[in-house]
Amino acid sequence: MHLQRAAAGVTAFLGLTKRQFEPDSHPYVDSDTGLKFASYTSERGVTYRVAIPDTIPADNVFETVLQVVAPHDIGWAGFAWGGTMTYNPLAIAWANGTTNVVLSSRIAYGYYTPPEYPNAEYTVLKKGTRVNATHWQLTAACKGCSSWGDEEIGVTAIDPQYHTTMAFAFSNNQVDTPESPDSSFGIHDSLGHPIFDLLTGQNADFAAKVTELAE
Ligand code: HEM
Repeated sequence: MHLQRAAAGVTAFLGLTKRQFEPDSHPYVDSDTGLKFASYTSERGVTYRVAIPDTIPADNVFETVLQVVAPHDIGWAGFAWGGTMTYNPLAIAWANGTTNVVLSSRIAYGYYTPPEYPNAEYTVLKKGTRVNATHWQLTAACKGCSSWGDEEIGVTAIDPQYHTTMAFAFSNNQVDTPESPDSSFGIHDSLGHPIFDLLTGQNADFAAKVTELAE
């Protein structure tokens, strides 16, 4: 009797564990860039995708590619590489008119408008960046988004061998000066903490592909 109760308890626990660790992202191949991404779409149809190299160095310093696709009624959409608002690289994107998309690198030190962050270097990839009748889309490579911090405050790194909690936030309202990456903007209307399986976004010959896409 005692053993039967224990076995039933274990079975229930394993079932819960399995669901809990199912990632929120799914594999996606982007026809604009040819890159494989781990892709997550939030409510309101705002999509965040991450592509990485197939070889990850021991220090976890590697280039990444972020793709954001948003309908026109989204004013700005932000992605947090470390899964929280504060103390990690934030990429915030918005449409500027009917042809351009602007990307701004920021970091938050509190729950107020994040200042610019020079330690993450983004290169906008032209082939994956565009505006059409319904959506705007940005694709950008980043150096400094897989690992951040220093010895004083501590180094944090993404390890694709593990499921990774990212974070996103978006706003219904336009930023104040859409043509400027240093624009101010207001608080989000929605946010979330999706779990990504970055191994599904691994790409062979990643550096060469990124260079080609930037040309
Ligand atoms: C004007 C700009 C912003 C303001 C004033 C702001 C303010 C806030 C505030 C007050 C909270 C706490 C909400 C609560 O606990 O109920 C919060 C949470 C959060 N914000 Fe922002 N925020 C801004 C921009 C951003 C951006 C650009 C991102 C980029 C992804 C972001 C991501 C998040 C996330 C993920 C949370 C949930 C808590 C966490 O995981 O750290 N925020 N924000």
